[in-house]
Amino acid sequence: MASDPSVTFTNLSSPAVCNWNPEDASFPEEFAWGAATAAYQIEGGWDADGKGPSIWDTFTHQGGDRVFKNQTGDVACGSYTLWEEDLKCIKQLGLTHYRFSLSWSRLLPDGTTGFINQKGVDYYNKVIDSLLANGVTPMVTLHHFDLPQNLEDQGGWRSETIVKAFDSYAQFCFRTFGSKVKLWITINEPYVAAELGYEKGLMAPGVTEPGTGAYLAAHNMIKAHAAAWHSYDKIFRKTQGGLVSIALNSDWAEPFNPNSLADQEAAKRHMAFCLDWFATPIFLDGDYPAIMKSKISAVSKRQGCPSSRLPEFTEKEKMMIKGTADFFSLNYYTTRKIRHQEHMHNQPSVSADKEAEQVTDPSWPVATGSSWLAVVPWGLRLLLKYIKDTYNHPIIYITENGFSQSDPAPLDDTQRWEYFRLTLQEILKAIYIDRVMLKGYFIWSLLDNFEWTCGYSSRFGLFHVDFESSALPRIPYKSAIEYARVISNNGLMKSCG
Ligand code: GAL
Repeated sequence: MASDPSVTFTNLSSPAVCNWNPEDASFPEEFAWGAATAAYQIEGGWDADGKGPSIWDTFTHQGGDRVFKNQTGDVACGSYTLWEEDLKCIKQLGLTHYRFSLSWSRLLPDGTTGFINQKGVDYYNKVIDSLLANGVTPMVTLHHFDLPQNLEDQGGWRSETIVKAFDSYAQFCFRTFGSKVKLWITINEPYVAAELGYEKGLMAPGVTEPGTGAYLAAHNMIKAHAAAWHSYDKIFRKTQGGLVSIALNSDWAEPFNPNSLADQEAAKRHMAFCLDWFATPIFLDGDYPAIMKSKISAVSKRQGCPSSRLPEFTEKEKMMIKGTADFFSLNYYTTRKIRHQEHMHNQPSVSADKEAEQVTDPSWPVATGSSWLAVVPWGLRLLLKYIKDTYNHPIIYITENGFSQSDPAPLDDTQRWEYFRLTLQEILKAIYIDRVMLKGYFIWSLLDNFEWTCGYSSRFGLFHVDFESSALPRIPYKSAIEYARVISNNGLMKSCG
């Protein structure tokens, strides 16, 4: 793991815990204050200037009520043509960092380097150059769910050929933008892309392959990530000096009954089948968590499968995967209570293999725009500590965290800002009490945008977007104004009310 020389966590002074109030604390110097977006969710211009189709273009165009009101990202926030408007929002917030993703099929319309779409290159150069000109550091995600359709037609993430294709694409991006971009994320949330895209079929490409599709897709995502990291390390790191990671999403898992050994073990399995599935091979030893391997193997056997449904890495692959992240990129939204549950469903699946059932505590508030998003700020602190203890005290960026409102969303989102404020307090505790090396925080999202299967009904933005108006105006929510204040103070300080 490469170290980041700019991190000076040793000079943080420990607070006197008994009378310490996070409201009065400052964040570390050079803390990265960010917001995040993804290409398909904001850009629009789905076929503009030679862009090729992605699996999300296909998925949404097929209709079938898989997306709220059959909405699409064809126009979304129009960021492909309205980038200057996004930049105004970024400046208004005073962000130090902005995380966005490249649309693979805007740059390489068929997913291969056989044809490069110069207009796509120009667009991202414009975005990166104007961020830098305004003192904002770009964090660039290479792949955020929108695989080029042509590659899906060749098997997508279930085919091993994707590993080479992704590596070529990554190398192209490093070569093209790497003199200016120093923070890279290879793949966003492989867990979500694999489980919802290739097992449950709820997200693009809509494949339902219970019990095998997600494991196979994830297997190739891990190898593709590792290949890209090695390419960066060998070819580009010396001259470009950047850092490369993969964005992993995770819930925090609490045992449903804290006194039940079975529930405690189930909570551990929930972590193993979510975060550790990817983090153990990449940050520790090149292989899947032992509990995941043994559970899937046992359940597969019970189901009469000739071998475990979880693919195996060869020894050579394990060596290649181990240690391929320069920092820990965490997307956190919620916490679950976990109850032991055997033989959950007849059909094989990731959740059935896990033999654990997730429950939401009814006392936790839920974000109005997402029924799954129970608001549990303290879960983030525990998760950060878990990452510190399990993954050798890495440098961590929270690359996504947010709370949605349902449409119509009030501009005065006082309640939502309260969720952010409580979350920032937990982050301060993680930094100063638990000594987690947290280097930055990115709110999901800069703008209200196309929230996958929820379409435009679920609003995560710091800025409201009026999707009914062709100008797609951006207006700050109260949370944007509060966030700008926190950024300029580098601390929570007292609320302006
Ligand atoms: C993440 C995803 C984002 C965004 C967010 C809110 O899983 O990376 O694209 O949609 O969830 O649901």
